[in-house]
Amino acid sequence: MHRMQCESSRHYDVVVSEGLLSAGNELLPDAVGERRALVVVDHAVDALHGPALRRTLPDATIMVVELTEQTKSIEAVLEVCRQAHEAGLGRRDLIIAVGGGVVCDVVSVAASLVRRGIPYVCVPTTLVAQVDAGIGLKGAVNFAGSKSFLGSFAPPARVLVDPTLLATVSARDLRCGLAEIAKVAIVRDAALFERVERDGAALVARAFQDVAAGPVIEGAIAGMLGELSLNAYEERGYARSMDFGHTFSPLLEECSGYTLRHGEAVALDMAVSSAIGVEIGILDVADHARIVTALTGLGLAVCSPLVTVPLLASAMERAAAHRDGDLNLVVPDRIGSAAFVKSADGVPPAVLPRALARLTAMRRDNLPGHHHT
Ligand SMILES: NC(=O)c1ccc[n+]([C@@H]2O[C@H](COP(=O)([O-])OP(=O)(O)OC[C@H]3O[C@@H](n4cnc5c(N)ncnc54)[C@H](O)[C@@H]3O)[C@@H](O)[C@H]2O)c1
Repeated sequence: MHRMQCESSRHYDVVVSEGLLSAGNELLPDAVGERRALVVVDHAVDALHGPALRRTLPDATIMVVELTEQTKSIEAVLEVCRQAHEAGLGRRDLIIAVGGGVVCDVVSVAASLVRRGIPYVCVPTTLVAQVDAGIGLKGAVNFAGSKSFLGSFAPPARVLVDPTLLATVSARDLRCGLAEIAKVAIVRDAALFERVERDGAALVARAFQDVAAGPVIEGAIAGMLGELSLNAYEERGYARSMDFGHTFSPLLEECSGYTLRHGEAVALDMAVSSAIGVEIGILDVADHARIVTALTGLGLAVCSPLVTVPLLASAMERAAAHRDGDLNLVVPDRIGSAAFVKSADGVPPAVLPRALARLTAMRRDNLPGHHHT
């Protein structure tokens, strides 16, 4: 027998720099070089940055799409592929996503399909995309009613993050980004969590146009990339601490008809996963209170009529199916560190109602509550 091996790995840079679309800034033209480029934007981003993009990349084809969570589908991916075909993109040419997580996801999947994979660049324009959706190598779209059912691992060629682009992002979307930042902070970075506790609400009020924004965004990106580098293609198992907040949230998003935004669902999930942590003796009550207080302080809901025991139970089953049979529920064991509840046996049936009751009582007793209807 001859055993041979094929090694494959790819690195990419995430560059944080202000003024990306300002006259004279060469970062984006340099990323394109002599290649053809198809730039994908949605209508909102086109209205805000279309003229600057056309000035920065005069030879690029600009594709303006109507894309939302409801239309984040394989059909949307195929539309981008069709434009790539029409624009005559070759093996080394580029697709550029300029937008939120939805545009970044669709472009990532499309780029992985065109000619078996062509390079793509992300210019994330929302906070969720700058700290999460636009900087990783996973892209997915919704299919047959299931959140993120179709997708691929496709590392971007480069990511260009410009925090000044956040000036126009809605407070609701900024809060969603802070939910993802809180996720990274809670599972691996206590100092980042303190910044979120201290500066988060003011950063939303100032649309991240503040000196406090840099360390929060860069800290979150560093944490995310640090986690990704450990297990980028998830070949080393499905125990991923970045899945904190992502066990119950996909089903919550689906059940809300995608009226609940991704970050809002993640916040609800983090609150309930942490409450489960208290109930099974992994997390102490004071740290749980800190997590819940931080989330509500940012204006994120920790309770919702959507979060019920049957939903939590069925989300756990689905998560296990998605994670090769094991639940791998991520539960913080203190601020800045997390543990995994490997199998569903680790969450006895009585725990779910007790965790929900704990959250409801906290909200009633001492926290400003927020409800999604
Ligand atoms: N692939 C991943 O690893 C990953 C990780 C996290 C989230 N996601 C996905 O990301 C999506 C959520 O991303 P999102 O929150 O960015 O949503 P989004 O892409 O829908 O953007 C939210 C809204 O902001 C608008 N917008 C974009 N940039 C703007 C700007 N600079 N100023 C004003 N408005 C702007 C968009 O038009 C949209 O209406 C979800 O589909 C989620 O599943 C993917």
